[in-house]
Amino acid sequence: ATGRHALRWAWRITYLSAVGLVGYTCYIVYQDRHPEPQFEPDPTKKTLVILGTGWGSVALLKKLDTENYNVVVVSPRNYFLFTPLLPSCTTGTIEHRSIMEPVRTILRHKKAAVKFYEAEASSIDPDRKVIKIVDNSEIQGATSETEIPYDMLVIGVGAENATFGIPGVREHSCFLKEIGDAQQIRKKIMDCVETAAFKGQTSDEIDRLMHMVVVGGGPTGVEFAGELQDFFEEDIKKLVPEISPRFKVTLIEALPNVLPSFSKQLIDYTENTFREEKIDIKTKTMVKRVTDTTVEAEASRPDGGKERVVIPYGLLVWATGNAVRPIVKDLITKIPAQKDSRRGLAVNEYLVVQGTRDIWAIGDCAVAGYAPTAQVASQEGNFLGRLFNNMAKTENHESRIQELSSKMNLQAGNSAEAAHEIESLEKQLRRIKDIKPFRYSHQGSLAYIGSEKAVADVSWWNGNLATGGSLTYLFWRSAYLSMCFSTRNRVLVILDWLKSKAFGRDVSRE
Ligand code: FAD
Ligand code: NAI
Repeated sequence: ATGRHALRWAWRITYLSAVGLVGYTCYIVYQDRHPEPQFEPDPTKKTLVILGTGWGSVALLKKLDTENYNVVVVSPRNYFLFTPLLPSCTTGTIEHRSIMEPVRTILRHKKAAVKFYEAEASSIDPDRKVIKIVDNSEIQGATSETEIPYDMLVIGVGAENATFGIPGVREHSCFLKEIGDAQQIRKKIMDCVETAAFKGQTSDEIDRLMHMVVVGGGPTGVEFAGELQDFFEEDIKKLVPEISPRFKVTLIEALPNVLPSFSKQLIDYTENTFREEKIDIKTKTMVKRVTDTTVEAEASRPDGGKERVVIPYGLLVWATGNAVRPIVKDLITKIPAQKDSRRGLAVNEYLVVQGTRDIWAIGDCAVAGYAPTAQVASQEGNFLGRLFNNMAKTENHESRIQELSSKMNLQAGNSAEAAHEIESLEKQLRRIKDIKPFRYSHQGSLAYIGSEKAVADVSWWNGNLATGGSLTYLFWRSAYLSMCFSTRNRVLVILDWLKSKAFGRDVSRE
């Protein structure tokens, strides 16, 4: 009887939690669809221009009280992209729109309206305090180039793909940074498979087409290789069995091991898992040239000698990290204090671009001494949001104090009341002005490595916990789900996971 009683209670609690969760989701969805009316920005306020709609800029926008500034956002991308799940879009485990959040929706939820221009900032003039913007989209109107003046500027333009000037990379490989890249990879994988299955295809050609090569053993390359192997094991093998034994993934890395930023134990775990998954890892192999069908590399032999290897491929994905964007390079040349900056804009502890006034930089385009990750970018954006809110409050308090002081001089009768308010404002001001410099708090690193396994280096109490396997995979999934931008994204990602598990990934080539 006690057991039945406990079961009944467990059932009631589960039922109520489920109802609560559904109710809460409905409430969030309703709020999302019915935002409060917005008021127009006050033209007497300072113009704050924000470049980019990535991790850094969107975190800043989320935190910023937009009613304190005239906020203008400029980005060639009118959406925020949740990059940690981008590798899953290359195989259709997740559909690309599930990890995109329109910037118009984000901005509509701010108290004061924010202007958005879908354009690329092509140059910054720090002396005149203006930026030049260009509309490079497919459809263009009579005006596609103009200038925007700023009082304050935040640069959050991220980074571009590093190729180190290696010949053939730009022409023949796919990158994995933007939604378009993931779509291109998804198409190309299936094109390779269908071409390999073409009637009378030669044996050498089948081997080449079914060889998927990934260059760069950082987290991007590793996660993509894992996703690709899953796709073949779980779907292609069943659907195109005649060519599946010829399928092969090779990961090429210049250093002695993959995932150099993870702990030794997790590097070993990843390399062993890849071996079990039959992903070929070629470490100490530096790619030197790329042609339309081959990768040419220099490999270090165990005796220390070097040998040239030529690897035929069907699909080549290039994931060798970040390079500085042209707009950032251009700005560096205009600021004498940045003459030694090579990897981005050097910033101080308040993220102000060194050698400038009223320009801040966040995320992958800033050099603040941290790794170029989403975690760093979003914490920096969040910090600037708080900083700008405080700066606005400071200005408001200071002008109110000035107003009260001049009133006190004119009307002696109300001076006690005014003095009291001034005292309270000054107290608040001291607290507001005491802004601590930016400090990054590392929450840990996570990476998916295929076969429903993940690795995690997470901060635990005062130490570090390194773990890998299937439980870590569940942790990886729940962590990224909770980090998704919106409830809409979360629901779509869950549905995509369920859909690909139940029905398999969609192999049609759009
Ligand atoms: P981005 O997010 O790249 O945003 C830059 C923005 O600037 C974009 O909107 C872009 O369109 C815009 N822009 C570009 N040029 C201009 C211009 N000239 N004018 C105006 N706007 C411009 N990090 C993690 O911490 N965890 C992860 O799991 C993780 N997974 C990743 C997976 C992949 C496949 C990739 C590629 C990266 C991953 N990262 C991860 C790294 C993370 O995505 C980046 O560090 C992060 O995006 C940097 O944020 P950002 O705001 O600096 O730049
Ligand atoms: P990366 O810079 O981390 O790794 C690139 C790798 O390519 C390096 O290991 C380098 O040795 C190798 N390489 C460079 N040139 C080469 C050549 N010619 N031949 C062979 N190998 C070569 O780049 P990645 O993976 O794109 O990551 C960029 C940033 O984004 C990093 O800061 C990373 O931490 C972050 N990120 C984090 C993820 C996560 O936490 N799960 C996922 C993806 C990216």
